[in-house]
Amino acid sequence: MKVVLGVAGGIAAYKACELLRLFTESGHEVRVVPTRDALRFVGEPTWAALSGHPVTTDVWESVHEVPHVRIGQSADLVVVAPATADLLAKAAHGLAGDLLTNTLLTARCPVVFAPAMHTEMWQHPATRANVATLRERGAIVIDPAVGRLTGADTGPGRLPDPAEIFQVCLRVLRGAPRDLAGRKVVVSAGGTREAVDPVRFIGNRSSGLQGYALARTAAARGAEVTVVAANVTLPDPAGATVVRVESTAQLREAVLAASAGADVVVLAAAVADFRPADRHDVKIKKTDGEPEPIRLTKNPDILAELGQRRGTYPKVIVGFAAETHDVLANGQAKLARKGCDLLVVNQVGERLAFGTPDNAATVLVAGGDPIEVPRGPKEDVADAVWDAVAARLS
Ligand SMILES: Cc1cc2nc3c(=O)[nH]c(=O)nc-3n(C[C@H](O)[C@H](O)[C@H](O)COP(=O)(O)O)c2cc1C
Repeated sequence: MKVVLGVAGGIAAYKACELLRLFTESGHEVRVVPTRDALRFVGEPTWAALSGHPVTTDVWESVHEVPHVRIGQSADLVVVAPATADLLAKAAHGLAGDLLTNTLLTARCPVVFAPAMHTEMWQHPATRANVATLRERGAIVIDPAVGRLTGADTGPGRLPDPAEIFQVCLRVLRGAPRDLAGRKVVVSAGGTREAVDPVRFIGNRSSGLQGYALARTAAARGAEVTVVAANVTLPDPAGATVVRVESTAQLREAVLAASAGADVVVLAAAVADFRPADRHDVKIKKTDGEPEPIRLTKNPDILAELGQRRGTYPKVIVGFAAETHDVLANGQAKLARKGCDLLVVNQVGERLAFGTPDNAATVLVAGGDPIEVPRGPKEDVADAVWDAVAARLS
């Protein structure tokens, strides 16, 4: 596929080199179109050598090939990473002063912007309005990640991990539908930990891979995504706001807060049903005799609570059930009991579901037929969920 990689003049321009490699190594033909200021950060020889194509910033070179029109017209995808505040403003207003902005005006393929800038610039009403304009026109603008910015500052504005931007682009290239555009989605991911003492906990084997696949695919389908991540060590999915939690109580609080005004809540995290009744403030010491038993108490049932609280929002609630036996029978009973719209049931055990990149599942639908998802990447299960969610939302 033909990809145009636009690079604007932000400090994160060096990260676009990695994005470029990901495209070229997966067989894509990439034309890099930097802005003049982007070349102050990473020079023309780097882009030319890595892409294998000549690189220019203005419309006055190789004029006989009319590059200001042809590059955009022939692209299957244009991705601008990093997109500066300046570039977003120019794109929103249709300015065409250089090769990149001309390309943006002539492209009829999907366009992805990955903005990166200081928090103040990202949150400025002018930038917000420009982003809204671009999204209204159908462009995909990936929300920046929260984290370390230039210098000592931290906050929203960081370019997401290049591998995650690449994943969004791949899904867009494969024709991901934009059926979640304008929808607010909350996904819980990972596995909760319940403290026994300051160093020990009761936990589970969930890695967060399925929850992150749900977040990544929802973002590619246009949703505004919040991930409540319990003990996940994976890179943040591009475009998602990640709220980190440890225990079930923290996850409950974060999910309920994020659910206000959300269209969809998907509870994919493995939450502990029980927690130690007493948390020791100091480490339990080894003694000669038998250890004291750990008394457990029940944790709140977040899925059931969400089902009971449902008013206007969330419109669709999706639960996950990991079962080791009688998978479908247990799943159907849980769907009826919890009052959710969809329940994704999967068999778990050694090398099944937890920590693996692939999964097989059945999506149980309240009032509808179950959907079988054969073993494949966790993104396949995620897309089957979003297909069913989109059908319910419409
Ligand atoms: C060291 C340095 C870092 C910068 N980083 C950013 C940035 O991350 N995001 C941004 O929007 N602008 C950033 N700027 C400002 C842009 O470079 C400036 O707005 C420039 O005109 C952008 O041009 P372009 O959009 O045509 O590439 C930075 C400037 C400097 C000097």
